[in-house]
Amino acid sequence: MYLSVLLVAAIGLASSASAQDIVYDSIHNFTAITGTWSSGSQHVVPGPGFANPAQETFQYPNTTGVGYSFSDDGWYEIARYRFASNATDPNCIIGTVVWAHGHYDLVANGSIILTPVGDGYQQVQAACAATSNFIQNYNFTELFVSWRIFEDPTFGPKLHLFQFDGSPVAPLFQVSTQPNMLPKQVLRNVTAQVVTTTSAGLVSTNTLAASSRKKRSGAAELQRPVGIVAGLVALAMLSTLL
Ligand SMILES: *[C@@H]1O[C@H](CO)[C@@H](O)[C@H](O)[C@H]1NC(C)=O
Ligand SMILES: *[C@@H]1O[C@H](CO)[C@@H](O)[C@H](O)[C@H]1NC(C)=O
Ligand SMILES: *[C@@H]1O[C@H](CO)[C@@H](O)[C@H](O)[C@H]1NC(C)=O
Ligand SMILES: *[C@@H]1O[C@H](CO)[C@@H](O)[C@H](O)[C@H]1NC(C)=O
Ligand SMILES: *[C@@H]1O[C@H](CO)[C@@H](O)[C@H](O)[C@H]1NC(C)=O
Ligand SMILES: *[C@@H]1O[C@H](CO)[C@@H](O)[C@H](O)[C@H]1NC(C)=O
Repeated sequence: MYLSVLLVAAIGLASSASAQDIVYDSIHNFTAITGTWSSGSQHVVPGPGFANPAQETFQYPNTTGVGYSFSDDGWYEIARYRFASNATDPNCIIGTVVWAHGHYDLVANGSIILTPVGDGYQQVQAACAATSNFIQNYNFTELFVSWRIFEDPTFGPKLHLFQFDGSPVAPLFQVSTQPNMLPKQVLRNVTAQVVTTTSAGLVSTNTLAASSRKKRSGAAELQRPVGIVAGLVALAMLSTLL
């Protein structure tokens, strides 16, 4: 009986705490989230040096990582470049390059919601899959349940984003207090799609531009940067990336 009273009390505490709005003071965030943020060696930075949406091309950074920009008028842009190993065959490396932008919301409960405007795209290179290198639309709403900005004594402001399941994104360093981003409008025609089903049952929706380019020369080859093997994430299925 005591236990159930305690439980009720604990549940009451938890729900009253979560109903409270987050206070964006210097303990929660040492500085504002607006600006440009990048993980690791800070080579993956959104903006014109990363993606050319009209051409559906990328300029591949020298190292893998992720970058986010947030403007003070509610736009975000994301750049992601990573390699993962295939869990059933670790020699089959899957590379992905992602670009997307849209509107972000700092929700009063402390979460961030990123809602894309629909012109994002990604390149997937899966060495062992039937369709080994393609470009497709990428339009996913992202929820970060919480975020914090700490002051790193060496690197300055450090943004921590926690994904829907609570797992952290690699710490992001502030590259600039200004958001590095492409024009805040739809930058790519996504109406034209070519849907292909591979022998493995994988449905790939190649964009028309990528399909016609493929007939000529294929999507550009991703070159795995040296020295990243230790950082590989094991993925059970390619679908987790799509
Ligand atoms: C914390 O972040 C919010 C939202 O970006 C901003 O308005 C506020 O000024 C930030 N706090 C500090 C101490 O910079
Ligand atoms: C990659 O490294 C090379 C050689 O250091 C440099 O010239 C080039 O600008 C770098 N590219 C990017 C995108 O940082
Ligand atoms: C992209 O996703 C957003 C958010 O779910 C949605 O509102 C929009 O219609 C989508 N755009 C396209 C082209 O699918
Ligand atoms: C993963 O490896 C298996 C075994 O070689 C292969 O059949 C499958 O297509 C690979 N998947 C990807 C996404 O590379
Ligand atoms: C905050 O609110 C959003 C939108 O209602 C919701 O999706 C998210 O899960 C909430 N976050 C927390 C930590 O409860
Ligand atoms: C997008 O592409 C389709 C198919 O090529 C075309 O019919 C349409 O006019 C294009 N839309 C824009 C806004 O360029």
